[in-house]
Amino acid sequence: IGGVKIAKDDVVKESDPTNNVPDSIFAKLGMQLHRRANHPLGILKKTIHDYFDTNFPGKFEKFDDLCPIVTVKQNFDDVLVPPDHVSRSYNDTYYVNSDTVLRCHTSAHQAELFRNGHTHFLVTGDVYRRDSIDSTHYPVFHQMEGVRVFSPEEWSGSGMDGTAYAAAELKKSLEGLAKHLFGDVEMRWVDTYFPFTNPSYELEIFFQGKWLEVLGCGVTEQAILRASGRTDIVAWAFGLGLERLAMVLFDIPDIRLFWSTDERFTSQFSEGKLGVKFKSFSKFPPCYKDMSFWINDGFTENNLCEIVRGIAGDLVEEVTLIDNFTNKKGMTSHCYRITYRSMERSLTDDEINELQVKVREDVQNKLKVVLR
Ligand code: PHE
Repeated sequence: IGGVKIAKDDVVKESDPTNNVPDSIFAKLGMQLHRRANHPLGILKKTIHDYFDTNFPGKFEKFDDLCPIVTVKQNFDDVLVPPDHVSRSYNDTYYVNSDTVLRCHTSAHQAELFRNGHTHFLVTGDVYRRDSIDSTHYPVFHQMEGVRVFSPEEWSGSGMDGTAYAAAELKKSLEGLAKHLFGDVEMRWVDTYFPFTNPSYELEIFFQGKWLEVLGCGVTEQAILRASGRTDIVAWAFGLGLERLAMVLFDIPDIRLFWSTDERFTSQFSEGKLGVKFKSFSKFPPCYKDMSFWINDGFTENNLCEIVRGIAGDLVEEVTLIDNFTNKKGMTSHCYRITYRSMERSLTDDEINELQVKVREDVQNKLKVVLR
C-alpha cells in the first residue's frame, strides 16, 4: 500500500457486525511513520538495519511495505497461536471482518516469507492492538521482526544440535544489537513463552536505572517451517517495538508525539542521529474528568477507551480506573478518570466539557452501562 491511503468503504461493508475498526484507526493505514527518514522511528529502523548490514553484509533483506491488512490465518494460525488465545478476541484485535484483521504483530508475515524461500529478513511495519490508554500505549505502533535461517552445514561441525546452535547465535546477535543501540549496558535474558518459538526469551537491559524489556525472540517452532515446506533447517526470530525503544533513546515522554506534525517536534530529529534528546516544548495543563457507572457483563476497559479515543482523538492522554466497588445487590461500579491534554496547545474548558458530554452519551448508548 506504499503510502497510499485505504478508504474504509473500500474494505468494510456498511454496518458489518464483524468489523470493529473505527474510522480513526482506518485513517492511520498507509501513514508508515517507519519510512520517514527524519522521524525517530525511521532513524531507529535505519540504525538497526545498519547493524545487520555491517555484521552480515548483503545477507538481510528488508521489507517495509507489507500490507497491514492480513488474514486471521496469517496473523494467528500460521504462527501457531492457539484457537483460544486472548489475542484473537475482538477485545484485543481489530477485525476488518471475521477472517481479516489489522496485523497485531509483524510475525504475521513469517510463514509466507519462509514459504517464498527467504532466509534472512527484517520486516518493519505498523501493527494494531486494542488496548487501554496511557503515555506508552497507542492502538497503532510499529514493530520490527528479524528472522535468520540456518542450514545443517552451519551447525553440523559445532557439536551442538540445530536448536542450541541457533539459540546461541541468536543471543550473540541480539546482544550486539543492544550494544549498538544503547552502548555498553548490562543485559539479562529472561525465559518466556511465545507460541511461535521454543525456547523463547526476552532481552532486558539496565538503562537509566531500570530493567527495560528490549525485545522478544526465540528459535522458530519446527511446525511453522514444515508447514511452509522447509525441512532440515532451523531459524531464529525476534520482534521488537520501535516506539518503546525510541521513547527511551530520544527521551520522548508520550507515545502520541510520534504522530505529531507540529514542527516543534518534527524539526528536532534527523537521519543518522540516534538518541538526540527531545526537548519538550512547554507542557500544557491537563484537564481531568471523572465518570462513574454501573458496569455490565460485557464491559471491558478497551471498549471504553475506544469510545473515548473516538471522540477525543489524541487529546486524551490517559484513562485510569480510580474506584471500583460492588454493592450488596452485586452491582459493580467503576469510576474512571479521563485526562485530557493536548501536546500542542492549551485546551479551553468549553471544548473539554463538550467532549465529555459526548463521551458520557456514547458510553451510555454504546456500552449500555448505567451512568451514576
Ligand atoms: N510477535 C511477538 C510480539 O508481538 C514478538 C516476537 C517475534 C517474539 C518473533 C518471538 C519471535 O510480542
